[in-house]
Amino acid sequence: MARRIELHGIYHSYVQGSVRQTVFEALSHTFAGAGSTAILGRSGCGKSTLLNLISGLDRPQRGRIRVDDQEITAYNEAQLALYRRRYVGIVFQSFNLVPTLSVGDNLRLPLELNGLPAKERERRVAEVLERVGLRELIDRYPEELSGGEQQRVAVARSVVHKPQLVLADEPTGSLDAENGTRAIELIRDTTVEGGHTLLMVTHSLAVAGYADTVLVLDDDGVLDEYREGIAW
Ligand SMILES: Nc1ncnc2c1ncn2[C@@H]1O[C@H](COP(=O)(O)OP(=O)(O)OP(=O)(O)O)[C@@H](O)[C@H]1O
Ligand SMILES: [Mg+2]
Repeated sequence: MARRIELHGIYHSYVQGSVRQTVFEALSHTFAGAGSTAILGRSGCGKSTLLNLISGLDRPQRGRIRVDDQEITAYNEAQLALYRRRYVGIVFQSFNLVPTLSVGDNLRLPLELNGLPAKERERRVAEVLERVGLRELIDRYPEELSGGEQQRVAVARSVVHKPQLVLADEPTGSLDAENGTRAIELIRDTTVEGGHTLLMVTHSLAVAGYADTVLVLDDDGVLDEYREGIAW
């Protein structure tokens, strides 16, 4: 069970030409206990970077990340790939659906990689598509979908393999209120209620309200509790 995510002394920066931009100087934080956490923060403060580090898509230049008993910063690429496949579901800010695969095949892929039998795969794919209201679009390709439809497929894909940890980057950013609620409820039902863990980035206080804990990442790359009225 993903019950604990520990960040110890994370330093991470990007270099563009001759300019180095430090996103995290020495970030330490523990997300403890199953449940959901929302992270607010101004554009460019490092929210997506933080999720990329926890998903192992990027490595911090210094510091350690532990997810339960897994020290992911000590993992090699193959171990990280397995960790992501088995353990993690990701909603990317830019969706990242596989353009050459239909909606159905985008959802079947993580299940195939995890070795689920065909019948169970079809059952789960139909179920999550139903939950986001897209069952009739199962044979479409990503380029034939609106932005919001792509986002709903991305949300469905993040939970279809019932991961222990879901990392969702603005999962409702392109959605109207009703579809946003459906998307959040799908993620919440499949994570929190299964005893799993959700970390989501959002710009919406209404969406953050679904989470057990709300944090703010400030411009200095420091995480703190959200308090009403705080500027972010
Ligand atoms: N690959 C990269 N190369 C150079 N700089 C980058 C790269 N990725 C991110 N950055 C910079 O790092 C900082 C943090 O980026 P990040 O994408 O984590 O922000 P964010 O909080 O997710 O912003 P938003 O709310 O706009 O999505 C930004 O200033 C961004 O310009
Ligand atoms: Mg971002």
